[in-house]
Amino acid sequence: MTARARQREADGLPLLETQDLTVEFPTPTGGWMPVVQGVSFTVGQGESVALVGESGSGKTVTSLAVMGLTGVTGGRIAGGSVRFDGRELTALPEREWRALRGPGMGMIFQQPIRSLNPAFTVGDQIAESARRHLGLSRRAARARAVEMLDLVQIPRAAERVDDYPHAFSGGMCQRVMIAMVMACNPRLLIADEPTTALDVTVQERILQLLRDLQEQTGVSLLFVSHDLAVVAELCQKVIVMYAGEVVEQGTAADVFLRPRHPYTAGLLAAIPKPGLRADRRLETIPGSIPAPGAWPEGCRFHGRCPYGVPGRCDSRHPDLTPAAPHDPRGLSDPNGPAGRARCVRTEEIELRGVTVA
Ligand SMILES: Nc1ncnc2c1ncn2[C@@H]1O[C@H](COP(=O)(O)OP(=O)(O)O)[C@@H](O)[C@H]1O
Ligand SMILES: [Mg+2]
Repeated sequence: MTARARQREADGLPLLETQDLTVEFPTPTGGWMPVVQGVSFTVGQGESVALVGESGSGKTVTSLAVMGLTGVTGGRIAGGSVRFDGRELTALPEREWRALRGPGMGMIFQQPIRSLNPAFTVGDQIAESARRHLGLSRRAARARAVEMLDLVQIPRAAERVDDYPHAFSGGMCQRVMIAMVMACNPRLLIADEPTTALDVTVQERILQLLRDLQEQTGVSLLFVSHDLAVVAELCQKVIVMYAGEVVEQGTAADVFLRPRHPYTAGLLAAIPKPGLRADRRLETIPGSIPAPGAWPEGCRFHGRCPYGVPGRCDSRHPDLTPAAPHDPRGLSDPNGPAGRARCVRTEEIELRGVTVA
């Protein structure tokens, strides 16, 4: 960590900060269409922040923008800023981006096997990452690869280092990917649905690994998931996205116990509960998320919202406003950061949350 980074940490300044971030993609008619709009959030040093929302809400587009990979996907950052360690990244030349990815931030994806090269051993791939970004010698990089496989709790790391990706299960492949990213000592790890393709017990172990890694290395985590249940055990802060924008944000404790946006309450109601009988259907949110370009007037959720009121919810696009702190009943910390919600009715409706074990 640089002296400047240490000072920022001491001052309590965030590691990552997006402000009013807007990402656009080309339309068939030659124009540009916003897909993510006005997104602002922070990730503190060592903090664990969840970005949640149904599929298509803009989580991956947001994450790729943070990684400086928007151009690769054919899009452009049309407005706003991304600051890492206080440094503005949106106008950074690709050469400087390459120096930042790796030791600055790394990202893992849903399908780890696709990100690994089947023609090289996992050790070679981890070592290559360490050589390129940290300038390690061949020998030191190999030692680093073994150390990293050990860090991600792969048994018999010294032997497995010479295996090819196909010799690893899905969960083990995800560990290898995490090892590859962690080999560069990044300060921010972005995990985009890292457990979605894995079965439940494996998912549980990967979450435990991420928790252990944070404890051991102090890495900050931006955890992207459509599944709020997964987020509950891992993250301190929750950012809820819907139709390309943030609709609610707050501490995990607040958001789960007392959601402030009907969309969040809908996501919470869809979490499977222990003991739920197979003949009882989960309450899923009716309808589907509107595609970019088809966002409705007013609140983008109003067509699916059980609390939507004609004239109020379908005319003016609501702002993301700080909500009154939750008070009595000891449900949340009145001195904690106030949550925000993009709902004009938030103070007059009673939304049900869930209790997190
Ligand atoms: N390369 C692209 N070109 C055009 N549209 C895209 C591209 N990538 C994503 N989108 C659109 O942006 C929206 C948000 O996508 P995404 O961020 O992948 O959602 P999420 O990760 O929340 O499931 C979707 O409507 C998707 O179709
Ligand atoms: Mg995604």
